[in-house]
Amino acid sequence: MDSFLISQSPPLKGSVEISGAKNAVLPVMAAAMLSDGISQIGNVPQLKDMRTMADVLRVIGCRIKEDGSNLSIDSSGINHLEAPYELVKTMRASFYVLGPLTAKFGRCRVSLPGGCAWGPRPVDLHLKGLESLGAKITVTHGYVEAEIDGKLKGGNFIFPISSVGATANVLMAATLAEGTSILQNSSIEPEITALANYLADMGAKISGIGTRTLIVEGVKSLNAGKGATIADRIEAGTFLAAAAITRGKVRVTKMIPEHQTALLEAFMSMGCGVECGADYVELDASDRELSPVHITTLPYPGFPTDMQAQLMAVLATIKGTSSVRDTIYNDRFKHIAELERLGAEISLSGDTAIINGGTALTGAPVMASDLRASAALVLAGLVAGGKTEVSRIYHLDRGYENFEGKLARLGGNVERQISGQVQ
Ligand code: UD1
Repeated sequence: MDSFLISQSPPLKGSVEISGAKNAVLPVMAAAMLSDGISQIGNVPQLKDMRTMADVLRVIGCRIKEDGSNLSIDSSGINHLEAPYELVKTMRASFYVLGPLTAKFGRCRVSLPGGCAWGPRPVDLHLKGLESLGAKITVTHGYVEAEIDGKLKGGNFIFPISSVGATANVLMAATLAEGTSILQNSSIEPEITALANYLADMGAKISGIGTRTLIVEGVKSLNAGKGATIADRIEAGTFLAAAAITRGKVRVTKMIPEHQTALLEAFMSMGCGVECGADYVELDASDRELSPVHITTLPYPGFPTDMQAQLMAVLATIKGTSSVRDTIYNDRFKHIAELERLGAEISLSGDTAIINGGTALTGAPVMASDLRASAALVLAGLVAGGKTEVSRIYHLDRGYENFEGKLARLGGNVERQISGQVQ
């Protein structure tokens, strides 16, 4: 297993380009199965999760071609309506195939994804939403089996809580249902809006895109889609956090500043300088004494749960008491114990971490437990005295394209140690 060896680094300086968002590509790859043609997706990041999704689609019968950051998905040969446990267990987003396969082929079998590193992550809303469109769902032997009599029927569904994945699955299914579906309290994360726009390009009739009420008038068939992936707001946020933690000055480019309102407010409350352009944000923390802040994660446009670990690392370097409350995943705090190994002082009370910041961080061997926790450990390693080794970075490779290379260009001392190679 590869690891990162990180040495204490100077304040990061320079500019870094952001890749396409994995969380936007994954549902779009599944959506491609709704047509019989060859769909094109541009600005696709080179990440492990993309390869896993491609493997899932290949098992189902799609033909996939990769050409740099362009992906083409030919779904004309779908012949196996099953997503197996071996693949779905490695990436929860594989569950996105459920809605499209049910809507297009009238039946499918998809493994339950199971929990994740920080606890259970149910899929009940995906299933209830599909049932509201007439799907008959049974869960047996660890698999979800969906069946419909004829076609899905338009229905009304109110998501009891905001769920990105359930919104995506039910929205994709509704595009081919007979009649009109009204999906209320839908998620409005940018990745959902991007999916809806891609579906609209395929010929889906969706109104209310970008709002919590999506109205979908089902159509008989969809064309192949074409579109470029939006910039990854979590990758962008992680580089802004890297600038803040090292008290550097970094311009993060090819990003979408309006997707970052809550995060940028947090950085400004800390006392960082934030300059926004049309497609960049420059964060300046050089020679600044930053202030503690209190953060609560919420569905978009609130502060993203996918940024709380990285922010916690930054807050560990700021003198005073900060807090991070996660209302989306109450127990997403595996990174605390590892940050403590580096010298951070953090206590946990229910869904809230209290950070007594400003203690000296010192390098140590630490272990990545999930994707964003890994990024938090790398950020902390940049400022910890001496050397930090972050093991199990296969988690990080799921969601950050060439993370070490991008950090190195900003002056970060991060080296990948390839498993099996003696340094
Ligand atoms: C997506 C993101 C993930 C992010 C999360 C929240 C992808 C591939 N992943 O995950 O990075 O952390 O949004 O922004 O885009 N829930 C239920 N029942 C369900 C579904 C969800 O109770 O059927 C709960 C979850 O446990 C959680 C909340 O709803 O508490 C939000 O989860 P959801 O938005 O569905 O997350 P994902 O789509 O899995």
